[in-house]
Amino acid sequence: MEKLLENRIHMAHLPTPIQFMPRLSDELGVKLYIKRDDLTESIGSGNKIRKLEYLLHDAVQKNADTLVSCGGIQSNHCRAVAWASAKTGLSCVLALRGEKPAEIEGNLLLDRILGAETRFFSVQDFRDISGVEKSVTRELIQNGRRPYWIPMGGSNAIGTLGYVQMVREVAAFPVAFDHLYLALGSGGTFAGTWLGCRHAKIQTRIHGIAVCDDTAYFMAEILRIKREFRDWYGMEVDFEGAEQHIDDHHVGIGYALNTDRELEQLVRFASLEGLVLDPVYTLKAFLGMVNHIQKGKIEKGKTVLFVHTGGHSGLFPKHSEFRRMFS
Ligand SMILES: Cc1ncc(COP(=O)(O)O)c(C=O)c1O
Repeated sequence: MEKLLENRIHMAHLPTPIQFMPRLSDELGVKLYIKRDDLTESIGSGNKIRKLEYLLHDAVQKNADTLVSCGGIQSNHCRAVAWASAKTGLSCVLALRGEKPAEIEGNLLLDRILGAETRFFSVQDFRDISGVEKSVTRELIQNGRRPYWIPMGGSNAIGTLGYVQMVREVAAFPVAFDHLYLALGSGGTFAGTWLGCRHAKIQTRIHGIAVCDDTAYFMAEILRIKREFRDWYGMEVDFEGAEQHIDDHHVGIGYALNTDRELEQLVRFASLEGLVLDPVYTLKAFLGMVNHIQKGKIEKGKTVLFVHTGGHSGLFPKHSEFRRMFS
């Protein structure tokens, strides 16, 4: 594992700070800290850049000239891939789910500013993601390019290393955390954090709050990543021994959809503590954490670390929902 952790291209500003939240701590009755992974970069910010440090290293080793990835039209991951490509002088092709929208805004606007080529696939086509991968990469190869495919969310054994690395920063902090919370989208951030805690022998209990899919889906994804470690590196990684918990009860009205009540809470946390969450991932994970604390699943006085995984560009396509609140 030590050797694998060296296989990276440094792009993120690390370590990210860990900040105490005094007013939210008072309100919730725990000692709440935020790991500011929303500060890993500016346009490249969030959790994905940590994974991309390792994926880019692999792409360069394999002599690729074009990064190819996939996600929703407002994917933070795709925007981070577009940024990382531009930063390292590679081309970028993004396969996006859904009809080409009338408005180019939020992450899609950044993808375009960064020079990424965007291709739109129907929701139906996207169900067969390996079909999308084959059709895009085959066409690129026919045109003389050397594509490197990055899976949804950068969540494979290579990308996961970024969060094994993140745990080292947490372990070096002078406070020991009883609980750590983060959002689950494609599962790699959780898998890496889990593996990292196991590897660093940290006793922190890890809670993943799903913003889509369910616990069974994520456990299958984690097993896939475990198999990749074995098949690609001949390494039997053991996820046992670190306490973890996936909660799939906070998806709400659906992936990337918010109630007015949720957005009101986002505004409240922002004005109370300068803690600006994104509506798709970190808001739902944070509300899941607050729910655990209020229901007594987390004892009063415990130290809790919430990993802010970024995603601020996701605020802007929600402007009409916020307008309702502010008019
Ligand atoms: C802002 C943000 N937070 C959290 C996540 C979830 O990370 P993962 O896909 O590794 O589960 C994502 C994934 O897209 C994200 O964009």
